[in-house]
Amino acid sequence: MINVIDNINSTNTWLTEFNLDFFDSIISLEQSEGRGRQGRFWESSKGGFYYSLVLAKKNLLPIIVGISVAEILYENGITAKVKWPNDLLVEGKKLGGVLCQVQGEKVIVGLGINMTNSSSLEKSISLSALGFNIDKLDFINKFNDKIRSAMEHSDEHIIQQFLNYDCLIGKRVSWEDGSGQVVKISEGGRLVVRDSSDDLIFLTEEVHLQ
Ligand code: BTN
Repeated sequence: MINVIDNINSTNTWLTEFNLDFFDSIISLEQSEGRGRQGRFWESSKGGFYYSLVLAKKNLLPIIVGISVAEILYENGITAKVKWPNDLLVEGKKLGGVLCQVQGEKVIVGLGINMTNSSSLEKSISLSALGFNIDKLDFINKFNDKIRSAMEHSDEHIIQQFLNYDCLIGKRVSWEDGSGQVVKISEGGRLVVRDSSDDLIFLTEEVHLQ
């Protein structure tokens, strides 16, 4: 079931409070306490896309979500990249992001996209600034369909698809206590980076492009 509401604290929080079924979801026109990754606040004024749904735990799920969104955008003429694990970038600026929260055997997947709203984040972009307008319910239907079929794909297939949208491989990146050059995404979904001592580091944390 898709729940539609005009205002809520956070669509992710709402879903975690109820024991809902797989593919139950919620979209809100705005959020008063939108949440981003690493405890950050997610600006959620009217005009943005704030959607969360319940999925089964699966290897590479954050990557699956990023690819699914990037594919829909591509089908609408927008060339988006996924910055591992699941930041959505257009022209190097942040268009949206994904917050996955594990809850037992379920994962609450939250998706935020700048549509007609504008974010105060430095280096952000919105669909309207790019000259695009996407119907939210149509987007949800396409997104759910993509996710349903991607859940059936093998890890190799998912990583192969991810390479179409990746923007990190070959680039120099830094993280909290190191820096290096990105080599690949591992089968377990980690970012593999070669550091200055030629060691391979398998990262789960976010990185910054240098
Ligand atoms: C990020 O930090 O890039 C992830 C942002 C995720 C925001 C979305 S908006 C819908 C859902 N509800 C929330 O409170 N957060 C996610």
